[in-house]
Amino acid sequence: MKLDMRRLSIDWLIEIIHIGIERIVIVDRDGIIVYIDEAYCEFIGTTFDDAIGRPVQEIIENTRMHIVAKTGEKEIENLQPINGSVMIANRYPIFIDGKLVGAFGTVIFPDPDNLRHFKNKMNNLLEELNFYKNKAVNELTSKYSFDDLIGNSHTFKAAKALGEKVAGSDSSVLITGESGTGKELFAHAIHHSSARSSFPFVAINCASIPEVLFESELFGYEDGAFTGAKKGGKEGLFTVANKGTVFLDEIGDMPLSMQSKLLRALQEKEVQPVGGQKTIPIDLRIIAATNRDLTKMIEEGTFRQDLFYRLNVINIEIPPLRKRKDDIEAISNKLLQKLERKFYRKGTVLSPEVVTKLEEHKWPGNVRELENVLERAINVLDGTVILSEHLPLYIRDQKMKASEQESLNNNSSKHVSPLAVQPLKETLAQAEKKAMTHALKIADGDKLAAAKLLGIGKTSFYDKCKVYDIR
Ligand SMILES: Nc1ncnc2c1ncn2[C@@H]1O[C@H](COP(=O)(O)OP(=O)(O)O)[C@@H](O)[C@H]1O
Ligand SMILES: [Mg+2]
Repeated sequence: MKLDMRRLSIDWLIEIIHIGIERIVIVDRDGIIVYIDEAYCEFIGTTFDDAIGRPVQEIIENTRMHIVAKTGEKEIENLQPINGSVMIANRYPIFIDGKLVGAFGTVIFPDPDNLRHFKNKMNNLLEELNFYKNKAVNELTSKYSFDDLIGNSHTFKAAKALGEKVAGSDSSVLITGESGTGKELFAHAIHHSSARSSFPFVAINCASIPEVLFESELFGYEDGAFTGAKKGGKEGLFTVANKGTVFLDEIGDMPLSMQSKLLRALQEKEVQPVGGQKTIPIDLRIIAATNRDLTKMIEEGTFRQDLFYRLNVINIEIPPLRKRKDDIEAISNKLLQKLERKFYRKGTVLSPEVVTKLEEHKWPGNVRELENVLERAINVLDGTVILSEHLPLYIRDQKMKASEQESLNNNSSKHVSPLAVQPLKETLAQAEKKAMTHALKIADGDKLAAAKLLGIGKTSFYDKCKVYDIR
């Protein structure tokens, strides 16, 4: 076999490497590049001559080739971000006559078939990443007080009054209401006016914590509890929040297995870090929130009844925006003040016509949707008065909704409405939204892939999704 292979000329070998879809790099024991194929060089923006003889870490982003050349342990199907794309990397040690001499690595772009397989893996990683990012920016203080809760409607004032009344007590509070109604804002305000306000406020989004990380995140872990665990162990969010308030957002998304552990911790007032024997006492006030129907979940067996009773000592229900239309103008003005700071604007006002339009809309996304609509309006606004034309079509004219949807879903131009003349910015915004929705459809809902299809960065894609309310 070996001899046959030697009859291949070097030209053949080079051509074979060239034909293959894997990009290839070979390093010696010290991680110095001894071979890298041309297409790889092109992809990472270097040249063959430049790369040869250099330490691989200096040439290839996030590489581990130098490590494999040292450890002799292969690494298969590793996800390696290069140039903003995620590549699948395989790294093999090279043994000649039983001696480790270097390493051979391939990277490949996941093709559509592979993609599905790797998508889950990537999504989980991204989810974890996001989770840690969010956590990093989450300062441990409450940022809002009851003064920040705008609204004079009867129902809203009642919810607010109840919140203010119970803030002083130590009882658990369950805040219910549709998404975007201000549940998190309420939780901040309650902590802010409570006796615990000088202690931490720790917000935990139960929907964003990967199930496998739940216990260690909430209760912490001891040194050596699992592979990859940080040396010295790690404190859990419950102990970080000690003496303060824990806000368990989207509690309805907490997995059942975790619900039992949470209940035990609340009952015993202590937590046991993963992999440890000792327990740590905790003194916490719990505020939970959800937009799901927990009573129904209890019937279906997906939420524990005993935990529900524990959390639902006081229930504050925040009414949806469509049931407090009187609040819309005041909230809009408050949101505009906030947006003006963000966009360096001054004196922005709503025209009376716009106020009427906003009051007519049903607001399935509640205040968050209103915030997005106003942010979008500020973006397309030249002067200071927000007019009807600065609103998205679906709010401007409910009847337009169907035809707008149709032209979004259907690329043909025959569906363009006769009301075609409108500010250029608006047309551009629509085109942008259309392109994004289309790309997302092609990419099967994968935002990262869609951003790539459109040739824009993922941050900018995420920002635009927010502006155009694309989910
Ligand atoms: N009554 C209100 N007054 C001012 N801003 C509000 C009000 N309710 C909600 N908001 C704003 O709307 C957005 C969504 O609120 P949030 O508390 O995150 O909603 P939820 O947790 O119910 O989904 C936030 O930016 C919040 O500041
Ligand atoms: Mg929320």
